[in-house]
Amino acid sequence: MRSAAVFLASLLCLHWTWVQGESGGVTGIGISQTEGEISKKEAQFEIHGIKATNDPSSSQTNITPDILAELRELRDMAIEHRSKIEKLEQTDTATQARLTASESKNAVLEARMSSNENVVKELQRKNIVLGARMSDSENKVKELKRDYAVLEARINTSENAVVDLKRDNIDLLARATASENKNRVLESRMSSSEKEVNELKRENADRPKVAFSVGLTDAGQVGPFNTDITLKFSKVFTNIGQAYSPTTGIFTAPVRGAYYFRFTMWDNRKSSWMGANLYHNDKRMMWSSDYSDSIGYVAVSNALVLQLEKGDVIYMVLNSSYGVSDENNNRTTFDGFLLFPL
Ligand SMILES: *[C@@H]1O[C@H](CO)[C@@H](O)[C@H](O)[C@H]1NC(C)=O
Ligand SMILES: *[C@@H]1O[C@H](CO)[C@@H](O)[C@H](O)[C@H]1NC(C)=O
Ligand SMILES: *[C@@H]1O[C@H](CO)[C@@H](O)[C@H](O)[C@H]1NC(C)=O
Repeated sequence: MRSAAVFLASLLCLHWTWVQGESGGVTGIGISQTEGEISKKEAQFEIHGIKATNDPSSSQTNITPDILAELRELRDMAIEHRSKIEKLEQTDTATQARLTASESKNAVLEARMSSNENVVKELQRKNIVLGARMSDSENKVKELKRDYAVLEARINTSENAVVDLKRDNIDLLARATASENKNRVLESRMSSSEKEVNELKRENADRPKVAFSVGLTDAGQVGPFNTDITLKFSKVFTNIGQAYSPTTGIFTAPVRGAYYFRFTMWDNRKSSWMGANLYHNDKRMMWSSDYSDSIGYVAVSNALVLQLEKGDVIYMVLNSSYGVSDENNNRTTFDGFLLFPL
């Protein structure tokens, strides 16, 4: 475009030179009066001396209009080109500004890209580290799973043991409860037994203690007398309760009860009668006797249990004309004791 403009300008110069040369002198009259719309800038393209074509004295008056028209045409073209060139220049400037902006943007983007690449590299490095840690973690998880399975098995075993223990416990509880109930029964029986024992103890303590054992005499032969006599056993071996009286020979029952009595009569005389009666109050209960032949040495024994009222008496009576003997061997004895009170 520029070259076209230059070409146009050169053409105009040539034409100007040519006109001056032709006419030999040009008046300073412009064409601006007829071309009022042309700006001052365009005024530089004013062709001086063209007015000379209007000069009626000029010999070239016939040619001038054509050249003028051509020149006008050329000028218009030049103006048009100039305007186009300016537009193009404007466009170019804008484009260059955009290019510059784009380049600076590109630089920014490149910088960001490079920074992003660094970030990506950093992330890749981190990824590798994380991958290693992940695989480590996975191994640990596997290990933990194994441990968990072992623990689960142990827990199951423990739970089973707990279930067994609970069963045992329930069983033991039932047995303990049964035992406790039994214990309660036994305790009550024990306490009642103890009460009874204590009662018995008290009874026993309260029970009169009655037992006697006596020998007749160390003096040898007793009797025969003309009447029946109560034998007075004077050698006291035992006389618990003092129910027997050695001075009277009479046993007096201190309480109501069952009593046991026994006696042995002995004699060493030849050809004589020996014997005695056991009396309960005034009632004869026993008659025991024997006849001593030529050798001598006879003995009789007997025993019985009697139920006595308190105050009842027991004694031995020697029949008249009967004899009995005793000495320090204690051969003739009388014994009795309370079996139990009634
Ligand atoms: C533990 O017991 C549970 C429930 O009974 C069962 O599902 C699991 O398989 C058992 N685990 C092992 C290790 O025995
Ligand atoms: C012994 O004495 C009793 C009482 O006195 C009498 O009843 C009995 O007949 C006597 N016995 C003999 C064999 O003399
Ligand atoms: C007979 O009894 C008395 C008095 O208790 C006693 O000292 C004596 O030794 C007894 N006689 C015999 C032979 O046992």
